[in-house]
Amino acid sequence: MITTRFTELFGVRHPIAQGGMQWVGRAELVAAVANAGALGFITGLTQPTPEALAAEIVRCRDLTDQPFGVNLTILPTITPPPYDEYRRAIVESGVTIVETAGANPEPHIGMFHEHGIRVIHKCTSVRHAVKAQAIGVDAISIDGFECAGHPGEDDTPGLVLIPTAADQITIPMIASGGFGDGRGLAAALALGADGINMGTRFLATAEAPIHRNIKEAIVRASALSTQLIFRTLRNTARVADNAVSREVVKILNEGGQFADISHLVAGARGRVAYEQGDPDAGIWYASLAQGLIHDIPAVADLVNRIVAEAEEIINGRMRKMLSADPVPTVA
Ligand SMILES: Cc1cc2nc3c(=O)[nH]c(=O)nc-3n(C[C@H](O)[C@H](O)[C@H](O)COP(=O)(O)O)c2cc1C
Repeated sequence: MITTRFTELFGVRHPIAQGGMQWVGRAELVAAVANAGALGFITGLTQPTPEALAAEIVRCRDLTDQPFGVNLTILPTITPPPYDEYRRAIVESGVTIVETAGANPEPHIGMFHEHGIRVIHKCTSVRHAVKAQAIGVDAISIDGFECAGHPGEDDTPGLVLIPTAADQITIPMIASGGFGDGRGLAAALALGADGINMGTRFLATAEAPIHRNIKEAIVRASALSTQLIFRTLRNTARVADNAVSREVVKILNEGGQFADISHLVAGARGRVAYEQGDPDAGIWYASLAQGLIHDIPAVADLVNRIVAEAEEIINGRMRKMLSADPVPTVA
């Protein structure tokens, strides 16, 4: 067992989280993560209405008696979803943990705290982490440049981002971006985090509610199999490399605007990729962690394997490096 401030704060067995994932963070995956002793988040906005979110929370609770949370992604959209109603659905459902992401969570924190809900805010820069800590979130999830989804515009990978954040963050903090095995967990702990958050690695699990073709595409992929889209719009997203993402990059690099690519990046097309198993159907998120993914295990096997590997590294491999015995010389 690896006990950290993260496991203690959220009442889970392992210092591992499954962050919100559009179209993927549904009850079956989140419950599998919870039953494995890690912390899963239902993706609030994947549900079309606040009522549907409430029903999804009930469905998840039927599948697990372990803690789980809900992700509330605050998007910079022209027609924002009814956040107040989603927030109310979360509160009324009795969920006790929320992952916020995408923008400043301040408008939401008060109501969550009034109802005893702990908020972990996911962000991609130290300054945003410091701000979130200052406005009273309970924990930080710091997402490095390697990550799937929105890595921000600072391009700071975890090796520097995590310890820089750890120097300024006093509340529990987990780290994400490119984590996929026990070596990553041990490294994150060494860099000052209290655990890891993973998205892409959980896509390639038995319980992830996506087509097997996508899971197999991830296994075939390497760390090179991503594209950074929307760079010129300063809303960068790391997605799987495919014909559509390459086309988006090309159009924007040639001076195109959002209107020129909106038909390519429509969320509905990405959803088709996940549901029908055509990796070229649209834009779907995946990270550099693809380079570390070689199988499609059950979630519990994955979580147990990651923790066991991290324990062996900390207590075996690294401990031996501290041996007082002199290194034997070759005669
Ligand atoms: C398919 C997919 C969808 C995602 N959707 C969201 C989302 O809606 N909201 C969010 O906060 N993060 C989202 N993320 C980011 C993850 O929660 C997590 O921070 C990220 O995947 C960590 O990097 P990793 O993929 O290298 O593990 C998504 C990631 C993936 C792979």
